[in-house]
Amino acid sequence: MTDPASYWPPFGLTLTTPRLVLRPIRDEDIPAAVDAAASGIHEPGRNPFSTPWTEAPPQELGTNMAQWYWRCRSGMTPNDWTLLLGIWHEDDFIGCQDIAAKDFAMLKTVTTGSWLRRSVQGSGLGKEMRAAVALYAFDHLGAEVAESEAAAWNQRSLGVSRSLGYEPNGITRANWAGKTQDVQKVRLTPAAFHRPAWQLQVQGHEALAKYLGLPV
Ligand SMILES: CC(C)(COP(=O)(O)OP(=O)(O)OC[C@H]1O[C@@H](n2cnc3c(N)ncnc32)[C@H](O)[C@@H]1OP(=O)(O)O)[C@@H](O)C(=O)NCCC(=O)NCCS
Repeated sequence: MTDPASYWPPFGLTLTTPRLVLRPIRDEDIPAAVDAAASGIHEPGRNPFSTPWTEAPPQELGTNMAQWYWRCRSGMTPNDWTLLLGIWHEDDFIGCQDIAAKDFAMLKTVTTGSWLRRSVQGSGLGKEMRAAVALYAFDHLGAEVAESEAAAWNQRSLGVSRSLGYEPNGITRANWAGKTQDVQKVRLTPAAFHRPAWQLQVQGHEALAKYLGLPV
């Protein structure tokens, strides 16, 4: 059978770190993604996301996740794209690291977001997957800035950012699902990046870069 990566280049991308494999979530991966999310991502009532997607009733969670994955894929253009990378650790699906950009050719800026199932949090995997996408963005896509944000109370997410060299980029007040939330923005440049000691392995970049209209 024809590999879907031959007509949908993002599916061909694979990033490999010492402990993790990151690659775009395919339809056959969605059940594992839903199981990982349903197993719990955060303390009940402590939603760390701007959209409270984890608080959907169990029977709606999978539908919403699948629709989100399909929406991101179907809306992808060189001027506005989101790569939803699944995270595998020892062959288990454990979370998601996304990387997105608008007007990338002009702004050379990516934004990121991520989650891990609770059972694997706190052992450095979140830092490893964010480092992977920062390396990919700076060294392969040619990004000059990587931005992120987290609720001001989310010390784990902000801890990942701090530890990779992100600098505070202002606090904004936002409406997160009807709740007032102070949101800490952070910003990383190649010069400030605390590069990991390991090398990132990248497969499938060329076809994706061509698809995104970037120099190869
Ligand atoms: C955010 C998340 C992806 C981070 O992944 P993680 O594997 O738990 O974090 P790590 O173990 O990689 O921690 C990385 C760094 O943060 C630091 N850190 C972790 N918890 C911290 C805390 N409570 N306070 C301060 N720093 C903390 C660690 O010390 C580490 O830095 P170091 O390497 O310099 O010691 C994960 O916790 C998660 O999925 N949380 C729920 C969803 C979420 O909040 N997503 C982000 C929304 S913005």
